[in-house]
Amino acid sequence: MLNPSSHPWMEDEALGTYLEKRGVSRRDFVAFCTKMAAILGLGSLAAPKVAKALETLKRPSVIWIQLQECTGCVESVLRVSDPSIGDLVLDTISLDASEALMAGAGTAYESALQKAMKDNYGKYILVVTGSVPLKDDGIYLTIAGRTAKSVIEEAAQGAAAILALGACAHWGSVQAAKPNPTGAVGVSEVIRNRPIVNIAGCPPIADVVTATIVHHLTFGRLPATDDDGRPLFAYGARIHDQCSRRANFDAGQFVETFDDDAARKAYCLYHVGCKGPATFSPCPIFQWNEGTNWPIGAGHPCIGCTERNFWDTMTPFYNRLPDIAGIGVERTADILGAALAVGAAGGVLAHAAATGVYQLSHKKKAEQAVAAPPSAYPPPPAPREPVSSATKKEEK
Ligand code: SF4
Ligand code: SF4
Ligand code: F3S
Repeated sequence: MLNPSSHPWMEDEALGTYLEKRGVSRRDFVAFCTKMAAILGLGSLAAPKVAKALETLKRPSVIWIQLQECTGCVESVLRVSDPSIGDLVLDTISLDASEALMAGAGTAYESALQKAMKDNYGKYILVVTGSVPLKDDGIYLTIAGRTAKSVIEEAAQGAAAILALGACAHWGSVQAAKPNPTGAVGVSEVIRNRPIVNIAGCPPIADVVTATIVHHLTFGRLPATDDDGRPLFAYGARIHDQCSRRANFDAGQFVETFDDDAARKAYCLYHVGCKGPATFSPCPIFQWNEGTNWPIGAGHPCIGCTERNFWDTMTPFYNRLPDIAGIGVERTADILGAALAVGAAGGVLAHAAATGVYQLSHKKKAEQAVAAPPSAYPPPPAPREPVSSATKKEEK
């Protein structure tokens, strides 16, 4: 448990010393590093490397910018339960500039943002939550008189790496759903010359965010990603293949209405709209609020919130998943039902085969990505004069 008394992180102080002064024991720190190594799929042998890299860190800077969003991602990452070392690492390195977390606002925030970008140019991690509206010259979101696009372009140029956090920053989410009145897009549609990772979900799981930052701080690069820019250590497996109700799916035991006996018995939610067979996410493993629960665990179907365009492609949320090329889950579920009716195992095998093909192709991509040597980050462009209104006022 952390010492609640505050100890400010000194400029030249290493993270290990800082945590020690905050009451974090060596044992707890190593346990945290072991957990991060496990989440990242590095194995326990990598834990000492993670520990060594983290404890010698000198005040890494994180700048967090919020655009078109609901603050749910901030809430998810901060959590509200007992403070953990992960909280402490995130809290501390997130304080250089964050509208939601800073006491200051308006001009004070703008000045802090400019100072943080200037002092840490080329080194800071940029976290972005929310989408970027591009329609009508971006007038649907302006901050201190500047469009979101202008704000994000300026912040991105000095960033060592960018975390597009949540479905809104990943691809635009509900704002980008048809007819997308503000022309909302994700960060990677605007920034193309800096390394970006998409931490998918609405909201994402805090442990995935922490582990991604830890990976960057330990290895100096972002983790390997899938074709959609999502880290493979977290989004490499389907919900359906990690789900606690999977045995019920395979046995043909389905909830038909939310108040039926099957619902009380926690049977499979596929017939009431579960999109778990088409969704890649670690929700069943990590869960929320220190592993307390997750949507399917609470009896609600997965709506596919880690998948691109889910507001358009996964709706209506409570309808059965349509047949998806390559998976054939609807068809195989019907085959499964028929097979069970005659007491044969053919349906189970058909389902396993269909799932296996899909999983194999994803696994192959994951292995190729992990095996590939890390590409060097392009160096940040030379700093240019800040253009924020706060700076302009200071200059006058
Ligand atoms: Fe809110 Fe979801 Fe967008 Fe996060 S991804 S800001 S939780 S709407
Ligand atoms: Fe779990 Fe949904 Fe798959 Fe059923 S359909 S096993 S509830 S992920
Ligand atoms: Fe989202 Fe489905 Fe997980 S709705 S939170 S991906 S269970």
